[in-house]
Order: sequence, then C-alpha cells, then structure tokens
Amino acid sequence: MVELSLPRNSKIKKGTSWPTPDGAKRTRAFKVYRYDPESDGNPRWDTYHVDVDACGPMVLDALLWIKNNVDSTLALRRSCREGVCGSCAMNIGGRNTIACTKGWDEFGGGPISVAPLPHQPVVKDLIPDLTQFYAQHSYVAPYLQTKTPEPQREWKQSEADRELLDGLYECILCACCTTSCPSYWWNGDKYLGPAALLQAYRWLSDSRDEATGERLDDLEDPFKLYRCHTIMNCAQVCPKDLNPAKAIAKIKHMMVERVI
Ligand code: SF4
Ligand code: SF4
Ligand code: FES
Repeated sequence: MVELSLPRNSKIKKGTSWPTPDGAKRTRAFKVYRYDPESDGNPRWDTYHVDVDACGPMVLDALLWIKNNVDSTLALRRSCREGVCGSCAMNIGGRNTIACTKGWDEFGGGPISVAPLPHQPVVKDLIPDLTQFYAQHSYVAPYLQTKTPEPQREWKQSEADRELLDGLYECILCACCTTSCPSYWWNGDKYLGPAALLQAYRWLSDSRDEATGERLDDLEDPFKLYRCHTIMNCAQVCPKDLNPAKAIAKIKHMMVERVI
C-alpha cells in the first residue's frame, strides 16, 4: 500500500518558547516561523515575548527588538521601514502585508503569528525566495519602449495621460498580492500573477509607450493572463491599496478590443 507523507518542510513543529524579558511591564507574544532549509530540522514556531514599552509601534519594530535583544539568528528582510521598498512583506496574523506599516496593536489578544509570504520556497525564516516573482516582473518588460527617437529633453504628458498611471505606478513590488492569489499558488510557474500583470498594464497605459501590440502578444496565452479568476485576494491585501484584479480585467478588455 502506498504511504503518503508530507515533505519535512511542510511539517511545522512547536519550537522554543523564549522567556518573558526581565522587568518588562507590558509584553506581547509573537509566534514566529523559523526554518533553515540547510539544517536537518523541520520548520518550527518559536514564541517570543516582546517588551512593547521598549520597542516601536510596528510589527517590524517588534521583530527587530527580538533580533536585537533575544535571538539574533532570526532572519528577515527590511530596508526603508516606511512602506516604500516592499522588502519586509510577510504573512502577519494570517494575512500578507508589509511589517513596517502594520501596527502590532491592530491585532486582538493572543500571540501574533508571523510567517514568510506563502507558497514560495524559503531561504531562511521570514525570507522567501522571490526569484520566480522577479523573473515574471522582468517578462512584462517594465520599462518604456519606443520606436520613434526619444526626445532629448523632458518628455511631458498631458495631465489626463499622466492620471491614467495613478493606481499603477505606486506598486512597491512587495509580492503580497501575487503570493496571496490561489490561481498563482496552483499555476505560479505559468500564470504571471497580479503584481507582474499590474506592471504590464502600467506600461500598456503609458501614452509614451509604443509597444502595445507586442506587449499584448506576450500576454496572449491561456495561462499567463487568463488564469485570473477574479477571486480578489490581491486587492484585499495590497498595502498600497492598489487593485491588480482591475488592471488584469483592463488587459483582458484590451485583448478583446483588438480582435473585434
Ligand atoms: S483577482 Fe485574479 S490575480 Fe487577484 S487574487 Fe484573484 S485570481 Fe489572483
Ligand atoms: S500591487 Fe500591491 S501587493 Fe502587489 S506587489 Fe504591488 S504594492 Fe505589493
Ligand atoms: S521595510 Fe521597506 S516596505 Fe517595509
């Protein structure tokens, strides 16, 4: 009889419960995913008690407090700490978001879970391997393409043309949307995912770009674009309040318009 078993990296064990810090008057528990694929151990949930009077108001502040005061081996990415670089994206309290703009006091009682972005290989702890995500971004050629010679001075747009980029250019490539998309979970190697498609639409909408036909040709495929089933997880989790599902619908509309 065939015996089926989950791989080691899918079995998360109970980890260390670190002691409450000495002298702390107010603490908050964080249940943090820990995994080193290069070690023999399974992933585990470690519990840390953060002295909230000694750290800043955001989940990222709490994680850095843990790293600086309790356990320096905890691995995470961050850079700007102002919601601009997208590098601190992770799954907090069961929802993808960026840690530097998410307040720990936004969560009810009980430990706050912190895990890496879902359905991506883990480099270590809270750091996902986003190689595929970046390759998909690169696939949509996220830069201006022109056929006429570019002007040597500032290339102005009308106010109306510039407004068409609102809701698109603000994307910080955090990957919260793509890694929350069920269609991407099942077909991530073929479906480009909401972040890459939002970027594709950003360049399709640019009045200066002259590669519209080629861009649409590159998306005309049963998987790359059409795996979006309008489940809307992407729009719900975007920390910049963008709507990739709407951008995807607009690309589909452009596809229809060019064949009729
Ligand atoms: S709307 Fe489309 S892209 Fe967004 S989560 Fe759903 S399937 Fe994914
Ligand atoms: S659309 Fe939003 S969630 Fe998706 S990568 Fe851009 S900023 Fe992040
Ligand atoms: S550290 Fe840059 S977005 Fe959070």
